[in-house]
Amino acid sequence: MKRLPINLEPRGYTIHIASGILTSISSHLEGADAWIVITDETVDSLYGQKLVKDWNHDEAHTIVLPPGENAKNLKTVEVVLNRMLDLGVTRSSGILALGGGVVGDVAGFCASVYMRGIPYVQVPTTLLAQVDSSVGGKTGVNLPQGKNAVGSFYQPQGVYIDVKTLATLPMRHLISGLAEVIKYGVIYDYEFLGYLQQHFDDILRLEEDAATKIITRCCEIKAQIVAEDEKEEGIRKILNYGHTVGHALEIAAGYGQYTHGEAVLIGMLVEARMSKELGLIDIEYYQEIVTLIQRTGFELYFDANWRESLLDNMKKDKKNRGGKISFILPSRKGEVTEILMAKEEVARFLQAL
Ligand SMILES: NC(=O)c1ccc[n+]([C@@H]2O[C@H](COP(=O)([O-])OP(=O)(O)OC[C@H]3O[C@@H](n4cnc5c(N)ncnc54)[C@H](O)[C@@H]3O)[C@@H](O)[C@H]2O)c1
Ligand SMILES: [Zn+2]
Repeated sequence: MKRLPINLEPRGYTIHIASGILTSISSHLEGADAWIVITDETVDSLYGQKLVKDWNHDEAHTIVLPPGENAKNLKTVEVVLNRMLDLGVTRSSGILALGGGVVGDVAGFCASVYMRGIPYVQVPTTLLAQVDSSVGGKTGVNLPQGKNAVGSFYQPQGVYIDVKTLATLPMRHLISGLAEVIKYGVIYDYEFLGYLQQHFDDILRLEEDAATKIITRCCEIKAQIVAEDEKEEGIRKILNYGHTVGHALEIAAGYGQYTHGEAVLIGMLVEARMSKELGLIDIEYYQEIVTLIQRTGFELYFDANWRESLLDNMKKDKKNRGGKISFILPSRKGEVTEILMAKEEVARFLQAL
């Protein structure tokens, strides 16, 4: 088993990465009398029911959400909190988030507000959640006009990653996770980008060494960034490469039309092009990024009619300052920089792909 520390005292914790760890998860849990497993319908039938089968009835309860981005809203939060109260959950209980980023974000947010905060652990089952959303303590839900508009910084007590769970993940969601994986290479580690280029097919086949290697490297990078800047006052912003456009696209298309990762793939492409056109990177490096994004096979398309809506959505982005829209753009190999642009300047970069 690999153990990666998040050095964030007094809120530090460990990421555990091991194939098959799901079956022994109860032996790792401490710090609560009972656990509320929050999951979605798909993950519940694949893993949730097996997970709680051996626990005593008073040790575990399960709350099952509908799958997908559409469930990531305040209504779902209300349903979960009401159900926890009905179950008699107190501060001596904890939440176990079992699923993808949607479950993790909703469960983490509920943990942060229920009775002013109870402990929780993350057990991510999508590639996206294993490399990104389960680590770092960002929790929250969407409003119709604002992606992740309501939320909190609330660190879990531990993260337990079972690489084996990816075996059942549909290809569409594997590709979504790869978006964030490619992101880490562009923002932080050019050598890792090279590894991805070389081992792309092994990764798509979920060859165990390659899968474990990418998950571990992404978690290391995220752990490092979060330890330096827990609340996104500085370096943590670099994790938003591809996300200014990506989030705007998710809202414009309607939540769930694009997966988060698909929107980020398009966002990274558009933002890399911005960077090239602004003269921040040369054409060769731009091509390197584009080639990797294209290897996912995802059809990189957006409707040019959404331009106005995209601009309006970007205008509301949380990262904006002084009335300008914030972009994290590639500046050198494995490095990015923040560029602020007025809405009018951004329009010219939104030509169709
Ligand atoms: N908190 C953060 O720091 C952070 C970071 C990145 C992304 N996010 C958020 O994460 C969300 C996206 O997460 P996601 O891509 O995991 O989506 P998701 O949670 O909707 O999961 C994708 C689909 O895969 C299914 N699934 C999950 N695990 C499975 C498995 N092992 N086998 C088969 N099916 C499985 C789910 O039921 C769902 O239908 C977005 O809302 C995004 O904003 C948050
Ligand atoms: Zn993301």
